[in-house]
Amino acid sequence: MRLDKLMEQENFGSRRKVKALIRSKQVRVDGHIIMDESLNVDAALQEIFVGERQILQKTHVYYMLNKPQGVVTAVRDVKHQTVIDLIEKKDQRAGLYPIGRLDRDTEGLLLLTDNGQLGYQLLQPQKKVLKRYEVIVNERLTKEDCVAFAQGIVFSDGKKCLAAKLQILSAEEHQSQAYLDITEGKFHQVKKMFLAVGKKVIYLKRLSMGPVVLDPMLSSGEYRSLNPEELQALLPYFTIHKKETSVKHEI
Ligand code: URA
Repeated sequence: MRLDKLMEQENFGSRRKVKALIRSKQVRVDGHIIMDESLNVDAALQEIFVGERQILQKTHVYYMLNKPQGVVTAVRDVKHQTVIDLIEKKDQRAGLYPIGRLDRDTEGLLLLTDNGQLGYQLLQPQKKVLKRYEVIVNERLTKEDCVAFAQGIVFSDGKKCLAAKLQILSAEEHQSQAYLDITEGKFHQVKKMFLAVGKKVIYLKRLSMGPVVLDPMLSSGEYRSLNPEELQALLPYFTIHKKETSVKHEI
């Protein structure tokens, strides 16, 4: 949530008053004086002080879902069950949405939050957030495929992918299994990358996104809140746009 919005909610006064407090260097986030009222903050993850008063309100929810096949990555859908339908009513919040998209037939890790700015940051191409997939294809994977992925796969429409790491786990004539690490999120990216080397994906599961790894204890369709370690690991993605100025607070 934006810092100024949070401060308004916490009764620090009107938007103008809040802005004045920020400009007068009275607001610190994790020890930094903040001059940008639009900074994305979460009092559950960061120490936010206005003068001597700490804002302790927990503002957002963060879930990891083990998405099953057959469920669409959308907030609502007229035909199919959505990932939001898998979240119990008591855990739903206004603005809860999935960060990024998995195809209907893809399973595995999907993060959901009502912190729109965090989702936005994780999906920024320049952040190059690493995603690991487990993949099964219908042909034998080879060392040449690993080289092609490392050099950057080119789609049939000429679009070039960033270098990706293909790690073959097993390779047989009609079926191979591998891990694939990619740092971008083009539409149907993994399936199209394999098609470019003449292979069809027959099973796809996301295992990790950035620092968050799918909990092996979560059965398909289950979800849980991110734990404090996972939330800490996501903190670098709370970074701010260029116009922010933050100054280390000297105590
Ligand atoms: N790449 C795909 O092709 N599909 C997904 O669901 C995710 C990545």
